[in-house]
Amino acid sequence: MFVTDAVVEKTIELEHNIILLQIFSPEIARIIKPGQFLNVKVSDSVFPLLRRPFSVCDVAGDSIFIMFNIYGEGTKLLSHKNVGDFINILGPLGNGFLIEDEYETAIIVAGGLGAAPFPFLEKKIKPGKKIISFIGGRNYRDVITYGMSSVLVATDDGSLGFEGNVVQLFQNHIGHFDKEKIKVFACGPNAMLRALQKLTLFENINCEVSTECAMACGFGICQGCPIESTSEDHKYLLVCKDGPVFNAKDVVI
Ligand SMILES: Cc1cc2nc3c(=O)[nH]c(=O)nc-3n(C[C@H](O)[C@H](O)[C@H](O)COP(=O)(O)OP(=O)(O)OC[C@H]3O[C@@H](n4cnc5c(N)ncnc54)[C@H](O)[C@@H]3O)c2cc1C
Ligand code: FES
Repeated sequence: MFVTDAVVEKTIELEHNIILLQIFSPEIARIIKPGQFLNVKVSDSVFPLLRRPFSVCDVAGDSIFIMFNIYGEGTKLLSHKNVGDFINILGPLGNGFLIEDEYETAIIVAGGLGAAPFPFLEKKIKPGKKIISFIGGRNYRDVITYGMSSVLVATDDGSLGFEGNVVQLFQNHIGHFDKEKIKVFACGPNAMLRALQKLTLFENINCEVSTECAMACGFGICQGCPIESTSEDHKYLLVCKDGPVFNAKDVVI
């Protein structure tokens, strides 16, 4: 894990107010894995006190990318960063996706900004494996397909693609797959992950979910990000240290 003052190389505005920050950080770029995250100090002053966690969206050479839209104070401050500004970053943090498992087709299921980790995941999946992405949002403005291929879209209001949620869309397509030869990689709101967990456990499909929760330290010290495990003793795990990616069978979402 590194703590580094990294320089902003580029700010890219994608469609619908989504911002992509390209940050020069050779140390982190060299070792970070898809699904791991960075804890970012969004301002140079002491406020806001807490860092904000962001998935690594992509890596190119010595640069890492994060993707966000303006949510609250932290992302607003981050959106004002210019080329040449420094950002203090802590990372890589947490456990990423296990992309080396046995499967022929990787199925990505993402809702809203849950799409953020997947351009990097797609890059790292071995050539020869198929990748199909199911991407959802409340409406067409929430659908983020940046850096993804073979995309099927669902929107709650039907303004783009299938009318309904992304888990229903995936469920409609399950019959096309050999369930023993697919692996699902998912990220999005916990309600979406919970529905997907129920479906994949019922269908006996290997599924990993990247969970979200409020965080402080980001590396297991403050105990502020518990998640219940499904182990017999129901012990609590930490999203930042034991996750954020878990096998869907291992946690209570
Ligand atoms: C491991 C991990 C990876 C993440 N990766 C990304 C990423 O790649 N891109 C990204 O945009 N975000 C990501 N997030 C969420 C991101 O950290 C929050 O969006 C960010 O903290 C918002 O900060 P803020 O200061 O703008 O909003 P705050 O001022 O902290 O919050 C503003 C309001 O939004 C609510 N809120 C904050 N975050 C969320 C959320 N995630 N879902 C629903 N409501 C929320 C708060 O409760 C509050 O009411 C990730 C979170 C985790 C835990
Ligand atoms: S955020 Fe501090 S222990 Fe997880």
